[in-house]
Amino acid sequence: MSDSYAPSAELTAQANGQADLFDQAEADFEGFWAAQARERITWSKDFDQTLDWSGAPFAKWFVGGELNASVNCVDRHVDAGNGERVAIHFEGEGGDTRTITYADLQREVAKTANALVELGVGTGDRVAIYLPMIPEAVFAMLACARLGAPHSVVFGGFSAEALHTRIADADARVVITADGQFRRGKPAPLKAAVDAAIDHGDDESPVEKVLVVQRTKGDVEWTEGRDVWWHELVERQADTHEAQAFDSEHPLFILYTSGTTGKPKGIFHTTGGYLTQAAYTNSVVHDLHPETDVYWCTADIGWVTGHSYIVYGPLANGATQVIYEGTPDTPHQGRWWEIVQKYGVSILYTAPTAIRTFMKWGDDIPASYDLSSLRVLGSVGEPINPEAWRWYREHIGGGSAPIVDTWWQTETGAIMISPLPGVTSLEPGSAQRPIPGISAEILDDEGKPFTEPEKVGYLVLTKPWPSMLRGIWGDEERYKETYWSRFGPKYYFAGDGAKYDEDGNIWLLGRVDDVMNVSGHRLSTAEIESALVSHPAVAEAAVVGANDETTGQAPVAFVILRGDAAQRAEEEGDALVQELRNHVGKEIGPIAKPRQVLVVPELPKTRSGKIMRRLLKDVAENREVGDVTTLADSSVMGQIQDGLKK
Ligand code: PRX
Repeated sequence: MSDSYAPSAELTAQANGQADLFDQAEADFEGFWAAQARERITWSKDFDQTLDWSGAPFAKWFVGGELNASVNCVDRHVDAGNGERVAIHFEGEGGDTRTITYADLQREVAKTANALVELGVGTGDRVAIYLPMIPEAVFAMLACARLGAPHSVVFGGFSAEALHTRIADADARVVITADGQFRRGKPAPLKAAVDAAIDHGDDESPVEKVLVVQRTKGDVEWTEGRDVWWHELVERQADTHEAQAFDSEHPLFILYTSGTTGKPKGIFHTTGGYLTQAAYTNSVVHDLHPETDVYWCTADIGWVTGHSYIVYGPLANGATQVIYEGTPDTPHQGRWWEIVQKYGVSILYTAPTAIRTFMKWGDDIPASYDLSSLRVLGSVGEPINPEAWRWYREHIGGGSAPIVDTWWQTETGAIMISPLPGVTSLEPGSAQRPIPGISAEILDDEGKPFTEPEKVGYLVLTKPWPSMLRGIWGDEERYKETYWSRFGPKYYFAGDGAKYDEDGNIWLLGRVDDVMNVSGHRLSTAEIESALVSHPAVAEAAVVGANDETTGQAPVAFVILRGDAAQRAEEEGDALVQELRNHVGKEIGPIAKPRQVLVVPELPKTRSGKIMRRLLKDVAENREVGDVTTLADSSVMGQIQDGLKK
């Protein structure tokens, strides 16, 4: 395709992921994964069976194998003579820094593991982690893994209520938290939410101990006998710890994610398969070269991206990485680019919502930093519209860095569909193809696979994969029902709409609940949003399918305008709105023209940056707006409605 970008010869020559991986995986699926597992992971006891799918949809990978995930992420690098390599360059929001080598990491993880043992944590016990983006979060996760105590990390932006539900569901005995966290230059309390989550008024809490990192030095309430300071308990521990090997299928962690009902799903992952695929993808997709790269994944450890691509993948590979505590605009909008310049970051992995925010802030901000160290860029979490993709390549990637648009989910544990930077000719906006070892198809309403271009269907995965979820914690039925019933037990139903283009690339079109049916035509919110943001007046857009008497559903768009356009909208009113409707008509077809285009000051987003279309749908359908408690800023819906009343 004229629009695609082939990799340079130099990039291909040095890339970890070469074209022959596809052939190998095609020729011998299990042999391929067995080789990945043996090449990338150190097993205390080798496995005797690669995959046991006899209990489908509950998979067992690398059966009979034994390993310790923490030893794989830490000790073996020290043993291999790389103890002095930097594991973590930590950058605090306020500018405080810490440099942690693999030898340091080994000592910190050992001390933390010993401390947890003193608190009574044993193999199989669940530990909740509710921490900001500080190195202790990594120490805590690896210490749990070391003891075979599954962690349940809860994002530090979640409320006491959300924390309570997650602690109760996982029956966590210990919570690891901090007194507070720095956000936008100010300390914000964190432990108070833990207190409220434990002292919840209903059933007795399973929590026996709370381990508290002192980060902001603010006042905290203290419960004697339950609460313990990290700096008192962890610091006095021995800095060595003999780790035990666990079965490949031993639970590694639980991570809660929202489903279609109100109750969050505890997605649960095990050890050998998860670690294998996290390490493999970080190597072949991000093209990590641990000796030379400086890697930065901007996710929070509270999300799966932080688990797989800050902790387990990169550390298993012996990476040097940056961890930044704060927000991108503190103390100024160039903070990220300052960090890239300071540490010479060469691989950057972030989310489209961040990229669009930077577009909104202006090209001159990244232009005033030296970003020439960047050689691979990644995107994750939602479809990246071609406009943002091009901006990312041009203004962050120096016009030449490959962008890997990686599709995966909390449930998949690791990247599934993505270009390989040294192999794939990139197509902006498309995640392109399943990576070697992964198989996907698109099904129609009847559950039949098809390949014709531009037809919209449902994405499914057709073979088990090593890092797949092993279930929903405590709810086998919900696991089968959610993922393995829509199209029968043969297909894992991802819940995403998708289509092929003429070249066979896969385009992800958002969750199927975001796919609307307008006069019998399927349209994706993502496609219309992409068309809107390709207009120079639009900074950000969210589209919902609202009920419509005539057409079934009709697209309603909410847009944030760029600076000068907002001025124009004030003066010209409807003219600009008409122009935007016509623009969508031109980009996709008249059927996609939004019924309404509503200019708004902000969009309702969750703390992880996902637009909450459900709330916009309430506005578009003239209903009372539903629950706003998971919004990053709960006043946004008020602002939107006030603006529309004017
Ligand atoms: O809809 C897809 C979207 O994010 C969903 C998974 O969300 P979560 O479990 O929170 O994990 C996010 C980080 C992996 C998917 O069902 N999604 C994720 N990556 C992409 C994407 N949609 C399009 N393109 C992507 N690259």
